[in-house]
Amino acid sequence: MRPLTAAVVLLQLQLAQGIYWLGLGSPGVSERFNNTQLCRKLGVLTPDQQQLCRRNVELMESVVEAVEVTKASCQNTFRDMRWNCSSINAAPHFSPDLAKGTRESAFVFSLSAAVLSHSIARWCASGSLPSCSCAPAPAEQASADFRWGGCGDNVRYGLQMSSAFSDTPLNSRRSGTPAVRLMHLHNNAVGRQVVQDSVETKCKCHGVSGSCSVKTCWKSLLDMGQISAQLRSRYLSATRVVPRQVGSHRQLVPREMELRPVLDNELVYLVSSPDYCSYNAKQGSYGTTDRLCNKTASGSGSCGLMCCGRGYNTYTEQVEERCHCRYHWCCYVTCKKCQRTTERHVCK
Ligand SMILES: *[C@@H]1O[C@H](CO)[C@@H](O)[C@H](O)[C@H]1NC(C)=O
Ligand SMILES: *[C@@H]1O[C@H](CO)[C@@H](O)[C@H](O)[C@H]1NC(C)=O
Ligand SMILES: *[C@@H]1O[C@H](CO)[C@@H](O)[C@H](O)[C@H]1NC(C)=O
Repeated sequence: MRPLTAAVVLLQLQLAQGIYWLGLGSPGVSERFNNTQLCRKLGVLTPDQQQLCRRNVELMESVVEAVEVTKASCQNTFRDMRWNCSSINAAPHFSPDLAKGTRESAFVFSLSAAVLSHSIARWCASGSLPSCSCAPAPAEQASADFRWGGCGDNVRYGLQMSSAFSDTPLNSRRSGTPAVRLMHLHNNAVGRQVVQDSVETKCKCHGVSGSCSVKTCWKSLLDMGQISAQLRSRYLSATRVVPRQVGSHRQLVPREMELRPVLDNELVYLVSSPDYCSYNAKQGSYGTTDRLCNKTASGSGSCGLMCCGRGYNTYTEQVEERCHCRYHWCCYVTCKKCQRTTERHVCK
C-alpha cells in the first residue's frame, strides 16, 4: 500500500470510529456476554465503551441485537434508493460513503443511536435486564376511563444508556476533527429525539366479555420500521453545514443560511455525496449497474431514477407459487404449484 493511501485509510477509520461498534454483529462476537474479559477482546469498542461494557455486561446482548437491527433497517429503508446501505455490512471497515461526514453517515449515526435506545427500552420492559424494568407510570393524569398499568417500554433508560454508549467515542479527539464529531453528536441526538417522540399509548380492556369496564394503558414505542422511515425523510431534507467559531466554542451552522441555527430535528452533514450512479471506489459509490428497478413506479425505485438514464434490460423469469389452496377440515391446507412468468428490470 502506498503511504498516501495508508494515511487516507487511517483517516477514514478514525472518522467512523463513532460507529465501530456496528462491527459487533460479526459471528462469534455475540457469544454469551457473561464474561467481562470479553469486553476487552472486542476490538471494535473504544476504551470508554469497553468500560461501559464491563460495568453493564448484561446490556451487551441488546447492543448486539441493535447492530443487527440497524443493518436490517438501514437496508430495508434504502432498498429502492441508489445508495442502498449495503456497505454497512463491512463494519467496522467503512468505505468513504460512511467514513466521511456525508448525508449517508448522518443517517446511519442517527439510526444506530435510535435503534440502540429502542432496543434497550424494549429489553427493559421484557424483563431481560437486571438493571432496569418497565417504565414507571407516566406523570400525566390517567382519566376516568382508564388507569396506568401494564408494562411500558423504558424509554428513559434506553435513551440514557444509548447516549452513554454511542456518544462516548465522539468525545475523543481520535474520532475525527471537531466538526465531524459535532456532526455525529448532533445526528445521534436527532435519532434519539425521534425515538423519544414516537411513544404511543396502548390500552387493554378488561371486564366481563370485553365490556371494557376497566381499561389499562401504558406507553409503548412505535416499531423500528416507522422510526427508520421518519429518519429517511430527515435524510432527504438534511442540511449541509459548516463549522464556525462562536466565542470560545465551535458550532455548526447551515452552509446556505448562516443566520439561522441548526434545528434539533434536522440531520446535518459536512461533505456532499456523489450521485451513486456509477462505480467509484474513492467516493464509496458502487453504482447502480445490475440493480433491480421498478418500471411502473415513479419515485426513487423507478427505472429512470435508479438507472440514471442509462436504460435497463428486461428479463423474464419463471416463478413457482402456491396456488388453488384448499382448506381441509380439520386442520390443514393443501395447495398446488403454479408457474407464473414475471418480468425483471435490471439497470444497464
Ligand atoms: C458463560 O456462558 C456459557 C454458556 O452459557 C457457560 O458455558 C459459561 O460457563 C459461562 N461463563 C461464566 C464465567 O459464567
Ligand atoms: C445494493 O447495491 C449493491 C451495489 O450496487 C448491490 O450489489 C446489492 O445487490 C444491492 N442490494 C439490494 C438489496 O438491492
Ligand atoms: C412497482 O411500483 C408500483 C407503483 O408504485 C407498485 O405498485 C409495485 O408493487 C412495484 N413493484 C415492485 C416489484 O416493487
